[in-house]
Amino acid sequence: MAAGQGTRMKSATPKVLHEIAGIPILGHVLATAHSLSSSKVVVVLRHEKELIENYVNSHFPKSEIVTQDDIPGTGRAVEQALSAMGDFAGDVLILSGDVPLLDVESISQLIQSHQSAQVEGTLISVVLENPNGYGRILRGAGAAVSGEIRGGVAWVNQELGPLKGIVEQKDATAQELEIDEVNAGVYVFDSQSLKENLAQVGMQNAQGEKYLTDVVGLMLQAGKKVQAQQILDPYLVAGVNDRAQLSELAAELNARIVRAWQLAGVTIQEPHSTWIDVTVQLGEDVTLLPSTRLHGLTRIGVGSVVGPDTTLRDVEVGEGAMISRTQADSAKVLDGATVGPFAYLRPGTELGPDGKIGAFVETKNAKIARGAKVPHLSYVGDASIGEGANIGAGTIFANYDGVNKHHTDIGAHARTGSGNVFVAPVTIGAGAYTAAGSTIRRNVEPGALALNPGPQKNLAGWVLEQRPGSASAKAASEITE
Ligand code: UD1
Ligand code: CA
Repeated sequence: MAAGQGTRMKSATPKVLHEIAGIPILGHVLATAHSLSSSKVVVVLRHEKELIENYVNSHFPKSEIVTQDDIPGTGRAVEQALSAMGDFAGDVLILSGDVPLLDVESISQLIQSHQSAQVEGTLISVVLENPNGYGRILRGAGAAVSGEIRGGVAWVNQELGPLKGIVEQKDATAQELEIDEVNAGVYVFDSQSLKENLAQVGMQNAQGEKYLTDVVGLMLQAGKKVQAQQILDPYLVAGVNDRAQLSELAAELNARIVRAWQLAGVTIQEPHSTWIDVTVQLGEDVTLLPSTRLHGLTRIGVGSVVGPDTTLRDVEVGEGAMISRTQADSAKVLDGATVGPFAYLRPGTELGPDGKIGAFVETKNAKIARGAKVPHLSYVGDASIGEGANIGAGTIFANYDGVNKHHTDIGAHARTGSGNVFVAPVTIGAGAYTAAGSTIRRNVEPGALALNPGPQKNLAGWVLEQRPGSASAKAASEITE
């Protein structure tokens, strides 16, 4: 279900497309749904349908999309999903598009319990310190039906009293609001029973909606068996309704991701300041120093050290590399290379094995070959730098003539002087040298030394004449006297 309006987000972006750990909330739910061996995954949309549909089609093309009509409520959403499933008979799992942390394991256990108890409905409940906003679980005295939960550490196993129904926050009496066991919005139902009972759900409630939760009471009244299995970990079933919950769940999911990588052999010095998207891959013995953020398709090879204060998006890092205080986007840093501190790697940067991009260097669309170095204070745009070449401090690759971008090619083992400007397009041959302070506008042949300083002219006494009485003039005259 992802057709709701998400008004509490107060956002132009649909709620389920807000991201945690680098992918939309709905992406987490759909990834889980698709990894269960279900025969069909149906996504119910309505509000901001086009945006969400684009996301679903491009990332989960095997999903079927159903559009909810203008009857509001979760019950209507499910009713329309069911009618898209034709004469399907069997169990249907219902997930909320705004509950991102629920995992495949818990859902599989839920389904097992549903099947072993031979009931027509099973839902997840959880006890919350602050149940505000959620539907409350109503239970009677006595023994409940309940299926065995296998692998049950995640679940409350004692008898909790028979399920009587669910009452929504806005419809609850003061007494019902005291109940701290809430409906998680995750269900397994026998599809035929569900269909029959949904047809009887009305809209006479505080929100004028067709509530899915009403089928629970109806089924129980009709003598059908429905159980609520209480899960222990509230984060697994926490929903995102506003941005405070969004950041809280983002932090919790991140803590779980960080921990999983630690257990997989990654050293992470400061978990709370380290952020890792679910899409990131890390090798063994990687070390992440404080305030490192790894996004998108970033991959880091065995033994590399990243951080502190480093943000990488879609960056491929080889083995044994070091990247410190760096921002990088769509770049490659190969085995044994070093980057930073204070480097900015823009898309198309590729640093070869054992290469170096040093302090205060910006690169863009730059292929820097094996062992080549750009150690200090430089801008390298639209360039290739050959193996073992060394670029002098403070060098600018002038790639832009105000209209077009041009390429600079530096040959293998070239040594360029400090403070050069390479006016592209220009080629420096293999093994060539350039003098400090040169502006290189013409190609340099392999092995040549290029230098273009104008002869230096010193005008004697200029300061004493032109700036009399200044501190400089005084300093100069003390020496000359
Ligand atoms: C719902 C449950 C509540 C439960 C809570 C758990 C109902 C009536 N209430 O409340 O008992 O405690 O989830 O998180 O089900 N949606 C549709 N179509 C609609 C309305 C909603 O597809 O017409 C989708 C939403 O996009 C969302 C999900 O259903 O993904 C839940 O809707 P939401 O409005 O967030 O329900 P809650 O008020 O949180
Ligand atoms: Ca919700």
